[in-house]
Amino acid sequence: MTNPLPLSAVILAAGKGTRLRSTLPKVLHSVAGKPMLEWVLQAARVAGCEHIYVVVGHGAEQVQDEISADDVTWVLQLEQLGTGHALLQVKDHLKSATTLLVLSGDVPLVTPETLDRLAVAARSNWGSMVIAEMEEPGSLGRVVASQNGNLERIVEVADATAEELENPWINAGIYALPAPGIFDFLCDLKPDNAKQELYLTDALTAAADDGKSLAMVALEEAEEAFGVNDRLDLARVHGVLLRRKAESLMKEGVSILDPSHVVIEADVEVGRDSVLHPGVSLTGRTRLGEGCIVHQGAWLRDARLGDGVLVQPYSVLEEVEVGDACQIGPFARMRPGAVMKERAKIGNFVEVKNSELGAGVKANHLAYVGDATVGENSNLGAGTITCNYDGLGKHPTEIGKDVFVGSDTMFVAPVRVGDGAMTAAGSVITKDVPAGALAIERSEQKNIEGYGQRKLERRKARKK
Ligand code: UD1
Ligand code: CA
Repeated sequence: MTNPLPLSAVILAAGKGTRLRSTLPKVLHSVAGKPMLEWVLQAARVAGCEHIYVVVGHGAEQVQDEISADDVTWVLQLEQLGTGHALLQVKDHLKSATTLLVLSGDVPLVTPETLDRLAVAARSNWGSMVIAEMEEPGSLGRVVASQNGNLERIVEVADATAEELENPWINAGIYALPAPGIFDFLCDLKPDNAKQELYLTDALTAAADDGKSLAMVALEEAEEAFGVNDRLDLARVHGVLLRRKAESLMKEGVSILDPSHVVIEADVEVGRDSVLHPGVSLTGRTRLGEGCIVHQGAWLRDARLGDGVLVQPYSVLEEVEVGDACQIGPFARMRPGAVMKERAKIGNFVEVKNSELGAGVKANHLAYVGDATVGENSNLGAGTITCNYDGLGKHPTEIGKDVFVGSDTMFVAPVRVGDGAMTAAGSVITKDVPAGALAIERSEQKNIEGYGQRKLERRKARKK
């Protein structure tokens, strides 16, 4: 017997999350680079729901602002009177009978596969729910099965006896329930429990008492049921998501030397044969080509790297584009708008912002390159600085190709240097330099014969 009802999802996300002790609404807390609620939404979308309702209350406006979701119907729960009351709020929004996938905004590890299993189980029963066996079930509600393996009742920890707490089977807070059928039981809820809330779980116990069959879908990986009620839970869930991401990359041919010590956020892509050393953070929409090596302590956000790029330890790259076979760092900083074409190289303590370094350009030591373009194969000596800011506005420096910039050159922008030109070490370049010229700007050196020797002798004589 199949149940042809369409699927909709309800995500309960109105709670305050008091135990996080935060000004930020609970479901906006980020795990592995995304607000918790995004993860749950993603699972609901993949499960193929026709409608997605999100029940919001505490910090509702902030949640709606920060979660961009055109496909979501926001449902307001003005007072947070409990999970049962939260689900009841969608009653008036439903236009026809449906199977409701009920998800918790604070249980973000649920996979689409589990939701599929849940929906299948609901087809041949009144409803279904996800359970798991946990070694340390903590504050999760405990589930008691009836003789035939369906739900008998759920006991919340605050209301449980010591014996009931021994039960390792927990309620994941994820259900497939028939609507409008479930609303009959929600309407009858009473807050006569330790928390004085209207528990969704009590409605399920009441349904079971009434002879409704609630199938229990047991998780193979109990961690899918990890909920987030405090910061310890938050860290644990974050860890699981990072591990999942690292594992999937390794299966695709990426080497991660110590998977427990890297941060790779969900949307990051890494090409095969790339090697990630411990302490690397790849965040946002970072994309690495094939055969890249990223060393200890490098932090990348929204960085696009070609193939065979070497990122040395402790380099920071944000909103940048790096061509094939470039080398960066150690201790380099690429700020937004920095572009390196193929085989370009920046070394230690080089900062590049909103600038393009052409193919094969080198800036190996101690430089600041801002609002500049540098043509291919030019070399910037140690200590080169583009003085791009005059206190009022930013100005460009244009350096041609095959230019040799002597150490400690200051380019007072706006200024241009033609192809094949040179600057002498220590020069402050305020005027354009023609192609092929040498620009030298420093006073002539004067040598005073014997001065050093006389000083030295006087010092030695004083010490005697
Ligand atoms: C709930 C379950 C518990 C289960 C656990 C799984 C109840 C009574 N208990 O407990 O059996 O083991 O989830 O993680 O359901 N919410 C609202 N409005 C409210 C109250 C809560 O939208 O008035 C939302 C919260 O934002 C949260 C979700 O519902 O996303 C769960 O609420 P929470 O208070 O965290 O329930 P738990 O105590 O974790
Ligand atoms: Ca919870």
